[in-house]
Amino acid sequence: MMHHNHRKKLFSLFEENQSGAVFIQGSDILYRNETDYEYPFRQESNFWYLTGVNEPDCALILDLKTEEYHLFVPKRDAQYAVWHGYVKSQEAWQQQYKPDHLHYTNEILTVMNEIKPDKVYCLNEKDAELVEDLDRGFEADIETLQDALTYCRVIKTDEELEYMRKAASINNLAHTEVMKAIKPGMYEYELKALFTKIHYENGLQQDAYNGIFAGGKNSAILHYVENNSKIKDGELFLIDAGHEYQGYASDITRTYPANGTFSAIQAGVYDAVLNALNTSIEQVQTGVKMEDLHMSASRTIMEGLKEIGLVNGSVDDLMENNIFALFFPHGLGHFLGLDTHDVGGYPKGVERIDRPGIKYLRVRRDLQPGMVITIEPGVYFVPALLIPALEDDTQSKFLNADKLTQLFEFGGVRIEDNVIVTEQGYENLTGVPKERADIEKILGQ
Ligand code: GLY
Ligand code: MN
Ligand code: MN
Repeated sequence: MMHHNHRKKLFSLFEENQSGAVFIQGSDILYRNETDYEYPFRQESNFWYLTGVNEPDCALILDLKTEEYHLFVPKRDAQYAVWHGYVKSQEAWQQQYKPDHLHYTNEILTVMNEIKPDKVYCLNEKDAELVEDLDRGFEADIETLQDALTYCRVIKTDEELEYMRKAASINNLAHTEVMKAIKPGMYEYELKALFTKIHYENGLQQDAYNGIFAGGKNSAILHYVENNSKIKDGELFLIDAGHEYQGYASDITRTYPANGTFSAIQAGVYDAVLNALNTSIEQVQTGVKMEDLHMSASRTIMEGLKEIGLVNGSVDDLMENNIFALFFPHGLGHFLGLDTHDVGGYPKGVERIDRPGIKYLRVRRDLQPGMVITIEPGVYFVPALLIPALEDDTQSKFLNADKLTQLFEFGGVRIEDNVIVTEQGYENLTGVPKERADIEKILGQ
C-alpha cells in the first residue's frame, strides 16, 4: 500500500489523461573489478520508493494515462538457481509486489508499443537511450522525472516516518551499547564490530553510509573510514554511523572521551558543540530556513570557543571574518530518507551560498512538516586550515595561537541528531545520551 501511495503521489504531478510513461530500470548487482565478488545489492532509491522491490535486474513502466503499473522482472534459468538461489515464480512476484501487470524484462518493448506514449520520462541517459533505441524510437525526457520524484520524497508519509523511527530506535540502541563498551586501548574497528553486531541482531544488514569510528586526531577527518587505529587514553572517540530499515536511513553522531572523563579542554569544546546542537533543534519548526539555523549555530560555536579562550574579539567580528568556518567547515545538516544525504535540499533556482563553511550546506529551503533533517554541528582542529589562518594578517588577530597550536592532535567533536519537522515543531528521533554528565555516568559504569 505504501508504494501504491507513492505512485499515486507521482501520478498526481502529471497532467490528467496525458499520453506518457515513466520508465526506470532498477539497479544491477555490482562486482568488484573483473571478479565474481558481489557488492551487497542495494536498490536505486527512486525505484525502491515506487515499487518496494529491493531485488536486482527489474524495471518499471508507469502508464500516465491509465495510471497502471507494469513491473518487469528477470527471467532466471536453472544455472541461476544453482549459483544464486531460488528462482521466484511469477505468482510469487505478483503476490509480493502486486503490480497491475507483471512481465519479464524482455517484454519492455512490447508493453511500450501497446502504451504508445507521446513521451517517456526517465531518470538518466542510460534509460533514455534504451527507450530511444527501441525500434519505433520513443521520445525520452530526462528533465522532469527527477524533480517530480524529489518533490514526492522530500515530504515523508506516515509510513515512511514509521520506518525512520524504526531505523533510529535500533541505531539508538547500538550507539548506547558502543558507549558502554569503549575502553582506551581498543581499536576503532572493535567498536565498529559491536555497532554492526547490534544492527545485525535486529535484522539491519545494510549500513546507510560508510560509518566513521574515529579516535583522537582521526575524529577531525570528516569522512574517515579506515577505522583501524588504536584509541588512546585521554583521546576523544567520534562515532558517526547508522543502518537502514527497509531502505530508510539513520545517521547519528556522538563524541566522548575513551577513558570516561572529559578533560577541561574537551569539555569546553564539547559544550560549544552541544549548545549549538540543542539551540538549533529548539528552533526547528515550519517555515524556518536551514541557512539561518546554520548561521545561528555558527554563532553559538564562536561564543563557546571564545569562552574557553581559543578565539578573541566580538562574535560579530568573528562571524564577519569567517572565523567560524575554520572550526566548523561543513553544513549544519541535510535531509534524511531513502538516502542518507537525501534528495531535495536545493529546489530549482536556489544556489549554494558562496561563503566558507556554509557553501557545503546541503539544504537551503524552508522547513515543512514531514521533512526529516539531521542537525550536526561540529568543531574540528584541522592543521591544514589553522596553519594558513594563523599566518594570515586578518584572521590571526582572532586566533589564540598558543592554545590552538597545542590542539593540532585533538581531533574534533561532532554531535548529530535526526529530527522530523512536525506541525507543532519537531520530533527528535535520536535518543542517545549527549549531556556530558549522562555520558560520564554511562562510561563510568
Ligand atoms: N557521515 C555522513 C553525515 O553525517 O552526513
Ligand atoms: Mn552522520
Ligand atoms: Mn549527517
